[in-house]
Amino acid sequence: MAAMTHSLSARTLADNGAIHDADAFNHLATLMKAAGDPLRLEILRVLRNNAFAALELSDIFAMRQNAMSHHLKLLARAGLVSSRREGTHIFYRRSTQHSSHDGLREQILNAVDSCPLGDEIVERIHRIEEERTATSREFFRANADKFRAQQDLIAGYPQYGEAVVAALDKLPARGTVLEVGPGEGELLADLCQRFERVIALDNSAEMLDRARGFANARQLAGIDFIHGDTAAAVSTGLASDAITLNMVLHHTPSPASVIADLAKVLKPGGVLLVTELCQHDQDWARSACGDLWLGFDAEELSQWARAAGLTDGGCEFMPLKNGFRVQLRQFIQAFPKTTVPRRESLQGV
Ligand SMILES: C[S@@+](CC[C@H](N)C(=O)[O-])C[C@H]1O[C@@H](n2cnc3c(N)ncnc32)[C@H](O)[C@@H]1O
Repeated sequence: MAAMTHSLSARTLADNGAIHDADAFNHLATLMKAAGDPLRLEILRVLRNNAFAALELSDIFAMRQNAMSHHLKLLARAGLVSSRREGTHIFYRRSTQHSSHDGLREQILNAVDSCPLGDEIVERIHRIEEERTATSREFFRANADKFRAQQDLIAGYPQYGEAVVAALDKLPARGTVLEVGPGEGELLADLCQRFERVIALDNSAEMLDRARGFANARQLAGIDFIHGDTAAAVSTGLASDAITLNMVLHHTPSPASVIADLAKVLKPGGVLLVTELCQHDQDWARSACGDLWLGFDAEELSQWARAAGLTDGGCEFMPLKNGFRVQLRQFIQAFPKTTVPRRESLQGV
């Protein structure tokens, strides 16, 4: 028997050309154990579009926090979720780290995502996101008049505005542009010079008033100001050639949903330009600047864009003197296969 075992492992070595790797088997077993439980799969499903603190997850699943923490520990050990401190809480999200079993992990997540969530779970997620929105809107309501000074503590518009305008100059289409979260409105003048139609969308009435005031002072005509969020933009049936989203995502309750909404209003070939803080640990930004999230990992933004059907375009990183880093990303809406002009028909024109 011993001889047979020996010859089997020798054949495995010869067949695979690999050296027996106990770590890989251990990791595979950890992954399968973590995934082998319906509640943990449902937790992964909930984390599809958002990050939640353990306390929020225990509310969503109506269970005790220490039981939830146990499940999160197993998922983290398996590399299925990662944790990060944001303010006083540790938030859990799907991991973007690569491992030797990425293929299997992807299959598990695809299968998980094909299962719908129960109404009660959806309702509880919705309630948490509403609370986050209320916190963010209250910050901008209370700080509209001193918003710029607060914002400049982290990344002032001049530090990324030029790069945004340079990227806009390279875009082919000049029809409609949507600016989400215009803040004080500094970008509006540049948008008016480059696009036939400019729409400014903000979920804070006070901030929208400031952007309107900026436009009036500069005599910028023909801007549509819409009070609402990106879900409202989708429901108006808007179709945009370009979208700018500068320093907004870290104020939104569910950044992945914002990107998914914006993908729906982007025309084929259209470009979503995102300026965002890279992940950081300067917690004071939450109280001083109303940030819900301490920046984002570049891969996290790419994953949300991919999930929304967008492809990665240009990417630029701008380190700032105060230790923050800004990422300027471009995500492109593909042409549906049927509408891509064929080479022959192009030649015939
Ligand atoms: C930090 S400011 C950025 C302003 C400007 N884009 C800039 O780069 O200076 C964020 C802006 O986004 C708006 N905002 C936050 N969440 C939003 C949402 N879900 N939908 C629309 N606007 C939002 C805020 O009211 C505010 O005007």
